[in-house]
Amino acid sequence: MEKIAEKRRIVLVPFPAQGHITPMMQLGQALSFKGFSITVAQGAYNQVSSSQHFPTFQFVTIPESVPVSQKESLGLVEFLMKLNKNSEARFKDCVAELLLQNGNDIACIIYDELMYFSEAAAKEFKIPSVILSTASATNHACGCVLSKLNAEKFLIDIEDPEVQDKVVENLDPLRYKNLPISGMGPLDRFLEICREVFNKRTDSAVIINTASCLESSSLSWLKQELNIPVFPLGPLHITASANSSLLEEDRSCIEWLNKQVPRSVIYISFGSKAQMEAKEVMEMAWGLCDSNQPFLWVISESLPEEVSKIVLEKGYIVKWAPQKEVLGHPAVGGFWSHCGWNSTLESIVEGVPMICRPFKGEQKLNAIYVESVWRIGFQLQGEVERAGVERAVKRLIVDGEVAGMRERALVLKEKLKASVRIGGSSYKALDELAKYLKTE
Ligand code: UDX
Repeated sequence: MEKIAEKRRIVLVPFPAQGHITPMMQLGQALSFKGFSITVAQGAYNQVSSSQHFPTFQFVTIPESVPVSQKESLGLVEFLMKLNKNSEARFKDCVAELLLQNGNDIACIIYDELMYFSEAAAKEFKIPSVILSTASATNHACGCVLSKLNAEKFLIDIEDPEVQDKVVENLDPLRYKNLPISGMGPLDRFLEICREVFNKRTDSAVIINTASCLESSSLSWLKQELNIPVFPLGPLHITASANSSLLEEDRSCIEWLNKQVPRSVIYISFGSKAQMEAKEVMEMAWGLCDSNQPFLWVISESLPEEVSKIVLEKGYIVKWAPQKEVLGHPAVGGFWSHCGWNSTLESIVEGVPMICRPFKGEQKLNAIYVESVWRIGFQLQGEVERAGVERAVKRLIVDGEVAGMRERALVLKEKLKASVRIGGSSYKALDELAKYLKTE
């Protein structure tokens, strides 16, 4: 058996949330297929369980730097600020220990862009660093634009109504009002974190979980703007499928799907974070029932007993589904999603058209792309109310209009699958990344 110490080691630093952990672990698996040894340095909570799905990976814990109890109360931006400030020294100690253990053999530290404390250790030990951006290339480009706002020569007030309707230079169709700032807390603090993420970095390259057929103009923009290699090697979940789910998947829904008519089911899931108000949940429940389409609904909130009885006559409810398998099931005809980037990619890979109901931040960008750029779905805007839900579900699953959306989704599916096959753009980007990491 080959000795692990003979390989070159990559240290991965994921951000501790499902939508970030998943692509980072997939990247780790893809690089281990290329002959690298993988160490995952994770915080004290939301840890990926090591042994079951990643038996060859080494896992180390960065000691807790923000108590879990403070995580929710701080809000994302303050949490990130504190996490990054407090983790710098702890991570340096961690890397020092790893260098000792692994005979100085660390080829690179690949960190989630939100874990920018990693830079300090990389600099101190003269280890190259590379960023993984787990959302879209367009979101990364927007982050770059936001990090420059209000700086010298770029005094733009994005809250000014006249500015809001202007197209962001070279990022058509995006307008300033589309920049992903909603739901991110006070604007000045959010801009500060964008500056931290972008202006302090000294990484030598960026990996993005996207494919050039999806976002070619944003990728060209980024390559020019960042002036370092950009590797669009996604969708990673096709290349590497190891399961890094933090919650247990309820597989009973696959049995239920097996009994449904092909392309009849609407699958509804809002990812790992989004919470709905009780009133909205009720309107959704009634609208779904009125649509007369079977539905599979991932929902953590509990429904009142009288509603739950009616809902269960037409639909199936789970707390956490094996999403990729669900989207690939022949019974599924549409996906009502919050448009998290992973969910969006997973839906396109299966050629499933979407109803978009983004909650915040970059989910809104993804929804714009689904509706207006790829034209494989539409947004459900305004208040959620029963009749609107019924209409949207029928429009997606039943009406003829869906034919166009589904056709385009199927075309995109083939393009994405081709991009990860030998010779495809993402396949080549992964190859180039592996070469780059070996020669850095
Ligand atoms: C968030 C952001 O919204 C996303 O855009 C960003 O890139 C990462 O952080 P999240 O809200 O969790 O992520 O959504 P998403 O990116 O869609 O990721 C959710 C993941 O959970 C997907 O991989 C999906 O397959 C999985 N999932 C969701 C399940 O496995 N089962 C479920 O029932 C629901």
